[in-house]
Amino acid sequence: MEQMKLEGYPVPGRKLYKNEQQIAGIGRACQLSKQILEMVREKINVGITTNEINQWVHEYTIEHGAIPATLNYEGFPKSVCTSLNNVICHGIPNDTPLEDGDIINVDVTSILDGYYGDVSQMFLVGEPSQEARELVTVARECLYLGIEQVKPFNRIGDIAYAIEQHANRHGYSVVQDYGGHGVGLDFHEEPFVQHYGDRDCGMVLVPNMVFTIEPMINAGSYKCKKLRDGWTTVTRDGSLSAQWEHTVRVTETGVEILSE
Ligand code: MF3
Ligand code: CO
Ligand code: CO
Repeated sequence: MEQMKLEGYPVPGRKLYKNEQQIAGIGRACQLSKQILEMVREKINVGITTNEINQWVHEYTIEHGAIPATLNYEGFPKSVCTSLNNVICHGIPNDTPLEDGDIINVDVTSILDGYYGDVSQMFLVGEPSQEARELVTVARECLYLGIEQVKPFNRIGDIAYAIEQHANRHGYSVVQDYGGHGVGLDFHEEPFVQHYGDRDCGMVLVPNMVFTIEPMINAGSYKCKKLRDGWTTVTRDGSLSAQWEHTVRVTETGVEILSE
């Protein structure tokens, strides 16, 4: 979601943590979204268009009794986001065929029984360059290092710091204009989950908060540009970008990855 101000401490009554029934429902939505990505992984290949991926995701979602959350969300026209090479996020499926060497993020959010599950993965098309594969691998490591920081009384800044340190160590930058978000009863809820910046700051994590972590890692500069379609966000310098996303829950002792 688009950058907002970092919030301070959780305040009861602001939909910041979920009850058991809600967590079970969000978990089922996350599992469906994950299954959709597994289906995409089996079928994606050189020559496939992102519109075909959109159709697979749309049909699978409907067949499983769910609704694709992105379709008509604030005017987004498709059932999935497909972000290719230098596209950071919110790529709109179209008729361009995938080429050997492409890297692409497929971001799926399903609404099942009113609950939202949000997860995205990278896909290698054919045989991408060593540089592209390295970026994809490090972006995934960034996600998991962020997830490792999730436990009660850690703060969102601890997630952010772990992610940015790892990206910088590899000479990459972290996108600042977009971040993770609370999710579950709505698509984008509090808190905003920053992926860069200092530790020991930002919102304190408490049990049963549910949010996404979804670092966008650029091979070059962190700077973004939104295209005139109002959605597609690309790297300003044309460098490659990679992103992985999970929906997670803070437990009594640590973290549960609901979308794994
Ligand atoms: N799934 C994206 C996220 O991780 C949001 C996509 S909103 C859309 O937050 F409108 F671009 F589809
Ligand atoms: Co997403
Ligand atoms: Co998300």
